[in-house]
Amino acid sequence: MEASPFDFQRFIDGWVREVIDFDPQIFPAEPRFGDFQCNGIFPHAKKSGIPPRQLGEQILKALQASNNANLFDLSLAGAGFINFQIATPAIEGWLEKYASEKDFSEATRDLAGKIIVVDYSCPNTAKQMHVGHLRSMVIGDAIARLFKLFGAEVIRDNHLGDWGTQFGILLMQLRKEKISWENLSPDETIECLEGIYRRGVQETQISEDAMNQARAELVALQNGDPERISRWKWINTVSYASFQEIYDLVGVKFDHVLGESFYRDRINGICDELCQYGIAEKDNGALVVFHRDHPHFQRQPFIIRKRDGASNYASTDLATVLYRQEKWHCDEIIYVTDSRQRDHFQQLFLTVERWFAARNCALPGLRHIWFGTVCGEDGKAIKTRSGEPIRLKTLFAEAIHRAAGIVASKDPSLTAADQAHISQAVGVGAIKYGDLLQNRTSDYIFSWDKMLSLEGNTAPYLQYAVARIYAIFRRANINPNMMEKFHKIKLLEPQEIALARKLLFYPCVLRQALADLRPHFICTYIYELAGIFSSFYSSTKVLGADPLILFSRLSLCARTLTVLRSGLNLLGIEILEKM
Ligand code: ARG
Repeated sequence: MEASPFDFQRFIDGWVREVIDFDPQIFPAEPRFGDFQCNGIFPHAKKSGIPPRQLGEQILKALQASNNANLFDLSLAGAGFINFQIATPAIEGWLEKYASEKDFSEATRDLAGKIIVVDYSCPNTAKQMHVGHLRSMVIGDAIARLFKLFGAEVIRDNHLGDWGTQFGILLMQLRKEKISWENLSPDETIECLEGIYRRGVQETQISEDAMNQARAELVALQNGDPERISRWKWINTVSYASFQEIYDLVGVKFDHVLGESFYRDRINGICDELCQYGIAEKDNGALVVFHRDHPHFQRQPFIIRKRDGASNYASTDLATVLYRQEKWHCDEIIYVTDSRQRDHFQQLFLTVERWFAARNCALPGLRHIWFGTVCGEDGKAIKTRSGEPIRLKTLFAEAIHRAAGIVASKDPSLTAADQAHISQAVGVGAIKYGDLLQNRTSDYIFSWDKMLSLEGNTAPYLQYAVARIYAIFRRANINPNMMEKFHKIKLLEPQEIALARKLLFYPCVLRQALADLRPHFICTYIYELAGIFSSFYSSTKVLGADPLILFSRLSLCARTLTVLRSGLNLLGIEILEKM
């Protein structure tokens, strides 16, 4: 028997291509037909005028003559589909070979040597993070973890909005209101700043004079006036402390926090350069870029310098791409924001393509990974009763509080410290998972009941499934990691074969999630896996079985644990050994 490949789908694809010269279209098959199916024969036969059955037979024969054939039961079906059923010994071989998360990461080196920047979270300072900041943080983190698994060098960069127009308004209003900060806690300070900002916005809306003052404050800040700079620094420090609390709670880390302000001195040079190359032009006093070949952006300008001469979001992003390319030599930059920024990023990418071509430097891949809105029951962006966006701090506190109720009802014998730890992992996990489970490009309706349920596709259900497997090993008095070395797996019962089959689809799911950067594929898969495990465990004797069978089945439990753990780790969901 040939050694089992890690990813059967990819393996079959490569193998069939040795025999044919068209796209074989290898897909997972409906279980009653086999594990994988070659769908490319029929369309190719039609195109080339060969009867599909005949072409299928030729290909089948060629495959059967190859060494790899003993990994599969091959058959021709219907109008010319080839079915691949993985032979049981090949499944056993797979289970023996890919036993630990380390084995998985050694087998997934597709991105080795690649440097990928993930630009995510990126809240604007002077405000606390709210529910609108949830998805970038959670999805961005999961994507970064996925790249890492595939061997890339990942640079996580939090591109804070710390240099925007909000500071003009804030500094203007701060000057008006006399507040003694000394007695305020950091939390109160940031809340107080939010109030000042709100009142400042109201002022500028009703008074032209206030608007002008805010503009003047912003210009003074941008010109480096020391007093403004020191206030601005203080606001950012206070803000970041409040972000950090959330990052610590949800387990998100960054390699760099280079906010918009970091690029402020580079922007003028870049604007000049874009003018010299004839890419940017003056339009009504502003500096803009048009893309003449684009149906949309031939008329809709990409504004890189406002009429008042101030730099903006767009010019800052241009400077940021150049910095990342020069400093980190990155191969790819991934931006994770909501769908409303799609135009911005399309225009940014088009501009960078032209600019980098003109300056003759390597163009990194640029991808905007956008997502939909988190909605309330009414289908509109979720808000508090008073119409404000819900703060992440409040949202997570509520989740942890609700989780505590569930945890206490499940096992009242846990110590208080254990209960607190588990409630946090379950509450935070529920929100993160409830988000990642959604196809990222869809909006979704936020529902406490759905995401905290112990049944259905939720974090608590999966965390519980994992804890149950740990409990099996506690009862057997064996460390599950010990089973990684057990090499005599024998699959006997249909339920154990079904479970083993599901396990070896994990690599295909990982690649599917990677291709489109959609973590929900992983969620769907691990949920199904947990269900299949549960049927296996309730129908098949494990702990009471004869020793050899016992160890073989415990290995199967351990492999399931490894895959569930790996999946949950990729999603940033904490694993609990006890729940
Ligand atoms: N600060 C922006 C916002 O709150 C997101 C920044 C995303 N990253 C970027 N390089 N533009 O919408």
